[in-house]
Amino acid sequence: MIIALNNKSNLNKGEFINYLSQLNKIATKHKIILCPTFLNIPRANIENKNYLLGAQNVSSNSSGAFTGEISAEQLKEENVKYCIVGHSERRQFQKESLEEISSKIKKLQEQNIIPILCIGETKEEKEANKTIDVIKREILSAIEGQKNIEEIILAYEPIWAIGTGVIPKNEEIKKVISEIKKILPSNKVLYGGSCNENNIEELNKVTEIDGYLLGGISLKTNNLQELLLKCN
Ligand code: PGA
Repeated sequence: MIIALNNKSNLNKGEFINYLSQLNKIATKHKIILCPTFLNIPRANIENKNYLLGAQNVSSNSSGAFTGEISAEQLKEENVKYCIVGHSERRQFQKESLEEISSKIKKLQEQNIIPILCIGETKEEKEANKTIDVIKREILSAIEGQKNIEEIILAYEPIWAIGTGVIPKNEEIKKVISEIKKILPSNKVLYGGSCNENNIEELNKVTEIDGYLLGGISLKTNNLQELLLKCN
């Protein structure tokens, strides 16, 4: 399985160094993609060969006069192999547009960094039965004109499930993944949103899920270890 750890804007320098020493003790056969803050990326000395480095964001432009931005080229120099794109927190708080998300994917692919594209509906969209329309729109606009589309990893993250402790029913996840597969039959699909060591066994029954994108639990190494053991 692919397990992506989204640290979000957490773990100051000292905390991250301590976190990393805990993380390095967790042996796993799964592919773990650690996505720390930009500042923690160069500090991420990972000993376990199953762990790879990811970023949480990238500039939609190449290097140049774009104050405050980090380019895909710069991420590549830091050994970043994956990058989260279009997380709902960025779509909401940074007003990231569909066009920007598409440009970010292009910039990443030019540097051979694999995008992890987050898609998912709000509570209101779910209640209005618009889930499938939303995920289709987000996927189609992100992949239009891209090369190597089959390499993009999708992360289905219902916005109402992120950080809330509420997760969709397995049938709901299955339905969304089957719609994703109609557009992208060979792409890997992760599930994200309130995964923890208590609900992971239920989620694992959805055999269509190729892995998980973990937020809150990525920071709690004991709980994370328990979750990983249950994925074996
Ligand atoms: P959560 O976050 O696991 O804390 O719900 C997931 C995410 O935002 O990627």
